[in-house]
Amino acid sequence: MKKLLHIIATPRGEESRTLAVTGAFLEAFKTGHPDWAVEELDLSKEDLPSLTSKRVDGKYVLLSGKDLSGDLKGAWEEIVRHIERFKSADAYLISTPMWNLSIPYTLKHYIDVIIQPKYMFRYTEKGAEGLIKDKKMAVIASRGGDYSAKEARAADFQEPYLRAIFGLVGITDISFVIAQPMDMGPELQKQKIGEAQQVARLAAAKF
Ligand SMILES: Cc1cc2nc3c(=O)[nH]c(=O)nc-3n(C[C@H](O)[C@H](O)[C@H](O)COP(=O)(O)O)c2cc1C
Repeated sequence: MKKLLHIIATPRGEESRTLAVTGAFLEAFKTGHPDWAVEELDLSKEDLPSLTSKRVDGKYVLLSGKDLSGDLKGAWEEIVRHIERFKSADAYLISTPMWNLSIPYTLKHYIDVIIQPKYMFRYTEKGAEGLIKDKKMAVIASRGGDYSAKEARAADFQEPYLRAIFGLVGITDISFVIAQPMDMGPELQKQKIGEAQQVARLAAAKF
């Protein structure tokens, strides 16, 4: 059975606007992909490993082309567990609000944990090469404001960042569904969630 890993970066549960849009995506996804399992990774409930000096030392050992051993290997067990969980999925769905023009710190923490040399990318003479091949990602995002106008786009560090960091590891087929603006009145919010749900259903059908 194939697996969609759903990474949740909003702590707002039932109140979440992002998850209201994700609900429409998942409903359509499950209809079109009855043979897929959906596994949830709710980052606000996850005790992610801290990037202590020892664990960061491990990253530099890997960057130097060596393998981890002894103490460092032990310190990396949790990191490797998260990387393996991520790599065991066949496709990815991220549900994330915009926080301070970018992503919530829990998602950044998760990214800092899993994006590791040797496991997710490697450096070659031509630069970084992603090791995650042929896997798709959908990102459902919501924002209080509206960053769709040309002048506002420069302040959007959410979509470009997610495209760049997952592109680094080889995930380049990423579709975004964005609900915005969410905090400029309840009527507009309702309308924009409805519109985003429609886009999400289509994205899930094509996924
Ligand atoms: C800590 C925090 C920071 C935020 N920063 C921004 C921001 O920079 N730009 C923006 O448009 N909205 C910002 N928002 C608003 C959320 O992006 C918006 O309300 C979103 O719809 C919340 O999604 P959720 O209900 O799924 O958590 C912020 C919200 C929080 C809690």
